[in-house]
Amino acid sequence: MPSLQEARIAPARRVAGRLSVPGDKSISHRYALLAALAEGVSRLTNYSPGADCASTLDCLRRLGVHIEHDPAAHTVVVHGRGLGRLAAPDLPLDAGNSGTTTRLLAGIVAAHPFTSTITGDESLRRRPMGRIIDPLTRMGARIESADGRCPLRITGTRLSPIDYATPVPSAQVKSAILLAGLHADGWTTVREPAPTRNHTELALAAFGATIDCAETTVRVKGGTPLHAVDAAIPGDLSSATFWAVAAAALPGSDIEITDLGLNPSRTALLDVLERAGAVVERHLDGYQLGEPVGRVRVRHNGLQPLRLTAADVPALIDELPALAAMAAIGGDLHVTGAAELRVKESDRISALAAGLRALGVDIDEFPDGFHARGGRRLRGAVVDAAHDHRLAMAFAIAALAAEGPTTILGADVVSVSYPGFFEQLAALTRED
Ligand code: S3P
Repeated sequence: MPSLQEARIAPARRVAGRLSVPGDKSISHRYALLAALAEGVSRLTNYSPGADCASTLDCLRRLGVHIEHDPAAHTVVVHGRGLGRLAAPDLPLDAGNSGTTTRLLAGIVAAHPFTSTITGDESLRRRPMGRIIDPLTRMGARIESADGRCPLRITGTRLSPIDYATPVPSAQVKSAILLAGLHADGWTTVREPAPTRNHTELALAAFGATIDCAETTVRVKGGTPLHAVDAAIPGDLSSATFWAVAAAALPGSDIEITDLGLNPSRTALLDVLERAGAVVERHLDGYQLGEPVGRVRVRHNGLQPLRLTAADVPALIDELPALAAMAAIGGDLHVTGAAELRVKESDRISALAAGLRALGVDIDEFPDGFHARGGRRLRGAVVDAAHDHRLAMAFAIAALAAEGPTTILGADVVSVSYPGFFEQLAALTRED
């Protein structure tokens, strides 16, 4: 789906204010999927308003799940069908732009005795699926694809459990296997090369699955029926990141984000901002189905250079474009070990470098990273979001520090995760 709309970003001196951000995208997908497999009716509030999480609901409807979605109220009611009881779809499952929908849903339909096809937009059809095809095939599913990419034609079956070491640290791959394992006889084990976000593990426990977790090893026992839940989804730290980096980069800024998910597998960004010199205050308000929720305040206090390597990357993968925008304004960010960025919604290394360069940023590109050096005078320009929501938002933040306005082409792609992004940007920027 081509994005055609432009956004015009005026320069601003600083950002200030108190806000909340949309519900967490990763958690929204997981709760919707598990609610579909549970017995009974789940009620989800603060469901992510992004197109990605709507794609998950659309796919579930095609699999026979009755869902009431009120997009204005951000509420979703899911009438669960029970474990292994999804219905054969009569049309392909369209995951849109969403890698999470594709990979997690593949794990679920692989365990159902019917054939289904998962596909999506042009960007999704370029992304690597071999990483889930391999373990799900080993468990007994038959998956046909051209070149390890979508469309995936999946013929499910009664799966055998596996003990699988994932070659890439990926929460989506881990989750696909765990969701498949939920339907297999016995224990399925996933071993990761580095810890990744653990929302699937927390959600599985909250819905009543039998699960065991250590730092990089998770086991799920198949066959335990799931029960419905009522859940309020915490704010998405990856969306809050754009305000946090803007506050860290622009002198005089002061931002407070409330009702925010503070799961430690997602908060590496806050540690990095502290390392860069920002003043970061966190306050835990409580837990929602095992997910910590609280408030974060970020204030500017200069910017120190940052160097991130392979060990830092899995916990920060979605935050790297925003951190590059921060460095572009006044810091210095050197990233290696991040080749995964090239297989996200866009090639996030070259498209990021192209956009920032157009704004006048001094940036070098490596096969597995980049080096962005701030300090140059930025100038307003025309930049292309490259059909990538996180790049559109990162360019908007960098553009705040430019001389003159910037036009972002294809800016409506922010609706993938953060439909109200530009309105919130206007409310938070200050000229004084
Ligand atoms: C996600 C995992 C990450 C992340 C993506 C969401 C998830 O992808 O980049 O935005 O919800 O599990 P990978 O698993 O491919 O690293």
